[in-house]
Amino acid sequence: MALYSEKVMDHFRNPRNVGVIEDANGIGEVGNAKCGDIMKMYLKIEDEVIQDVKFETFGCGSAIASSSMATELIKGKPVSEAMKLTNQAVAEALDGLPAYKMHCSVLAEEAIQSALDDYQKNKAEKNEK
Ligand code: FES
Repeated sequence: MALYSEKVMDHFRNPRNVGVIEDANGIGEVGNAKCGDIMKMYLKIEDEVIQDVKFETFGCGSAIASSSMATELIKGKPVSEAMKLTNQAVAEALDGLPAYKMHCSVLAEEAIQSALDDYQKNKAEKNEK
C-alpha cells in the first residue's frame, strides 16, 4: 500500500489557497519545535463568514497537504463552524495520514485556531473604540 493517499499527493502537488491575503482580519502562525515546520494562515472574514482563506507553509508534504485541505474545509463556512475543525477531520478528508505524520494535521488545526483567535481579538478591539 502506498504510504500516502492520492488525496494527500494531490493536495501536496496542487495545494489550494496558497498565498497571502493583504487585508486579512485574522492571521495565525504556528510551528512545531520538533520538526521545525511553520504554518501561517490568513483569514478574510465578513459577517462572521470566512470569505477567503490562504496559507503559507514552510514544511513537509503532509503539512502542505493538511493546510490545503484545511483551507478547503473552512472556506465559505461560518466562524462558529470553522472553530470546530479538528485535525482528525483534516486527516480524514485526506483519506488518512501515517501515524507519525498526524502532527502535521495538528499544525493545520492550530494555525486556523490561531487565526480565528486573532480575528476575535481584532473584533473586540474594534468594538472597544
Ligand atoms: Fe512536522 Fe510535517 S513533519 S509538520
